[in-house]
Amino acid sequence: MDSDALQQAKTHLEKGELVAIPTETVYGLAANALDAAAVAKIFQAKNRPNFDPLIVHCHSIEQVRTLVSKFPAKAEKFARRFWPGPLTIILPKTRIVPDLVTSGLPSVAVRIPRHPLTLQLLRSLDFPLAAPSANPFGYVSPTKAAHVTAQLGDKIAQVLDGGECQVGIESTIVSFTEPNPIVYRLGGLSLEQINKDLGKVSLRPHSSSNPQAPGMLASHYAPKKRIILGDIKQNLSKVLGQYEAKSVGILSFSDVFAEIANGQQVRLSEKRDFAEAAQRLFAALRYLDTLPIELILAELLPEEDLGRAINDRLRRAASK
Ligand code: TXA
Ligand code: MG
Repeated sequence: MDSDALQQAKTHLEKGELVAIPTETVYGLAANALDAAAVAKIFQAKNRPNFDPLIVHCHSIEQVRTLVSKFPAKAEKFARRFWPGPLTIILPKTRIVPDLVTSGLPSVAVRIPRHPLTLQLLRSLDFPLAAPSANPFGYVSPTKAAHVTAQLGDKIAQVLDGGECQVGIESTIVSFTEPNPIVYRLGGLSLEQINKDLGKVSLRPHSSSNPQAPGMLASHYAPKKRIILGDIKQNLSKVLGQYEAKSVGILSFSDVFAEIANGQQVRLSEKRDFAEAAQRLFAALRYLDTLPIELILAELLPEEDLGRAINDRLRRAASK
């Protein structure tokens, strides 16, 4: 790997500057998590409201321990099973975590990401990294370095290029601050995998009335184009009375539609593979958003495995 770029990233972060980092889920916009002034720059660059807390990225369980005041055995066993990986857990915080990172909450979100370059960077630093997804607030998360450069390039010190994100959707968030674990956000670790490990866990769906998960607003991950969610074939016959075919884009799981030009259609996975669909989802939304079309017809995937998290992103992308 590019050791010059890594060295540069380390230097910027030590000076309190912002660096976009690759993770297996999406690119993050990182700063020294223990330096409130550095963290403030993240909120500024993203135009993110202060009530939306950040995830702190660590290289080891030992480092996580410095940030949390309690690490129940059940939570630790669970974390060890899936870290490094697309899992974030929420635990009570210690005083070294600035209030800005947690939006004043007494808990902190932590995760060990599974990208070799970012793990190497984290190990070279003597502080953990606070990092939300590296997109302007409310827009689709970035899964390639070029996505970050296009939208935030002039606001940050560096984009550390680690290639395309392998998982492609954000981490699954599980809280261990109450007697029973609660899933706050579906993501790259499926509910089936969680249930196998923890037994049946409850889901606390995002909403503006759930201040425990303030970032999980109904409209999020949203492209600028209008998205119509539902049966594509049916919706196509409806909208073609009103719009020309050249104004319509399609985001399907695997089907193609003869009425619409190929360049205006994205199939998430020809072989109907959930992991492949997740990996391609955000780049597909960004691609369709750049086309000279007026609306995007999209469909939900089967509500199982990573299909649940994909559907969650699609619903929010469509809700405006
Ligand atoms: O995969 C990911 O999780 C990516 C990569 C960069 O790690 N990060 C990410 O961060 O998606 P972000 O900021 O876009 O989403 C983090 C979510 C926020 O919506 C926030 O509401 C929730 O985590 N969160 C953070 N701390 C929390 C806390 N103490 N209690 C409840 N929710 C929390
Ligand atoms: Mg985000």
